Amino acid sequence: MYNEYIKALDFLENNLHLNNKPKIALILGSGLSDIINSKNIEVKAKVSYSEIPDFPVSTVEGHSGKLIYAYYKQTPLIIMQGRVHFYEGYSIQEVVFPIRLLCLLGVENLLLTNAAGAVNKDFRVGDIMAITDHISCFVPNPLIGGNDDNFGVRFPAMNNIYNNMIIEKISQKYDIKKGVYCQLTGPSYETPAEIRMLHTLGADAVGMSTVVEAITAKHCGMNVVGLSVISNIACDTSDNQISHTEVQQAVENNKQKVIDVIEYAINLIAIN
Ligand code: HPA
Repeated sequence: MYNEYIKALDFLENNLHLNNKPKIALILGSGLSDIINSKNIEVKAKVSYSEIPDFPVSTVEGHSGKLIYAYYKQTPLIIMQGRVHFYEGYSIQEVVFPIRLLCLLGVENLLLTNAAGAVNKDFRVGDIMAITDHISCFVPNPLIGGNDDNFGVRFPAMNNIYNNMIIEKISQKYDIKKGVYCQLTGPSYETPAEIRMLHTLGADAVGMSTVVEAITAKHCGMNVVGLSVISNIACDTSDNQISHTEVQQAVENNKQKVIDVIEYAINLIAIN
């Protein structure tokens, strides 16, 4: 399996001119791509996903499809502006190709972000939820298929995926929620009955990404932190019709707070 990544790895090494091993990879979900304009981020090199051999390319608005080598203060980072989703028609293994590539690049810390619908009735639009755990059983497991022992074991444990210490430290400084994220396939949003089901199952937020990436990262030994921006109330049974535009707008309206929390998380991960 390793051979599948060689061309992409060579491409990144030749085009990003990494002078230091990236310490953290940050994956930016819907509407969050602008963080790279933060005054604290210094972009060193940029490639489009479409240039990277075998790299999946996002077709979704709000996912700009650039892989960036940058510094946040002293910390070298890879920033992925956007991701691909299972609902775009990619296989689940293709969806997690970037995670394994990051792992082979030597990245040890993964900071995942997304926009999510609130299942927990105490959550409000604009809240930030640190992911403490997830429910993956509505999407195919990305580790299905032959196991490459170079990445990890055949049957990896999935407790303690998300770094609790970082979550606690973020919550000491920022008023964030904590909760369980459930990944569904999408692309249709949930029905009220499905949201009641997710509530019964113990989910606090729902989305169409992140979990398969976290599983793959945990399999190859990465330290994972996940942040969801609550973009809508998933259990909304009013006449309001949720749309991708509403999701993007909610993220846009809360962008500065999200950027602050992401930057704080980067600081914490960098010193730990
Ligand atoms: N459901 C699924 N995915 C989402 C939602 C939602 O309500 N909001 C943002 N992504």
